[in-house]
Amino acid sequence: MSIDKQNLPLHVAITMDGNGRWAQAKNLPRTSGHNEGLHVAKRIVKASSDLGIKFLTLYVFSTENWKRAQQEVGFLMNLIHSHLCGELNFYKKNKIKINHIGDFKGLPESVQKDIAKAIEDTKDFTGMTVNLAINYGGRNEIVRGIKKIVDNNIKSENIDEKLVSQYMDMPESPDVDLLIRTGGEKRLSNYLLWHIPYAEQVYTDTLWPDYSNEEFYSNIEIFQHRNRRFGAEK
Ligand code: IPE
Ligand code: IPE
Ligand code: MG
Repeated sequence: MSIDKQNLPLHVAITMDGNGRWAQAKNLPRTSGHNEGLHVAKRIVKASSDLGIKFLTLYVFSTENWKRAQQEVGFLMNLIHSHLCGELNFYKKNKIKINHIGDFKGLPESVQKDIAKAIEDTKDFTGMTVNLAINYGGRNEIVRGIKKIVDNNIKSENIDEKLVSQYMDMPESPDVDLLIRTGGEKRLSNYLLWHIPYAEQVYTDTLWPDYSNEEFYSNIEIFQHRNRRFGAEK
């Protein structure tokens, strides 16, 4: 690994895609891909924290994923529930602060409770922040933000990019520096629309359950070799 620790992306976001195809290729039910994917997510959270990444945002469940078979959706909700209930010690041990982004009220009540408890139990930690995108859609986030701005009677002359950011779901996280997507698809799938104006994007064909720490490190190295201009001349 030849990562330059002085030039780490402050905020990494990941679209963890390919669980279903991984399982299907092994003649297993799609749900076993999600099980395996959860292990990988935990490993990548630990690797990020050990590396010194400050903000990590994980796409867990999109506002569009409700279209899937009820059995798969139910399995995913249960997996989220048991992870949040069973792994709090892991987050505590690594001083990781948990945050949620997405449409909270649209989640089953049990998952709402788990998320609220995880946020409360980890709120004072000063290590890495993990934003879990659960029932998350970029457009949904923007619409909810606009509604809050209107409900707060904010005058149009007071609206600027900074204010809008404060009304999005993760006001404490900076813009995303590096967006990684596994699973081969090269699209955003409604992820983080407001937060990625200048994110460097890395796409890999590796299916999420096969994503290794080594590939994660090499994706960070790719980021470190990019020339970020933010619209300025070279
Ligand atoms: C990503 O894997 C996990 C979720 C969307 C919940 P998929 O389940 O989308 O896996 P593929 O893309 O069908 O292989
Ligand atoms: C994006 O993956 C959502 C998550 C990884 C949670 P999808 O598998 O839902 O995206 P599409 O359908 O390929 O665009
Ligand atoms: Mg997919």
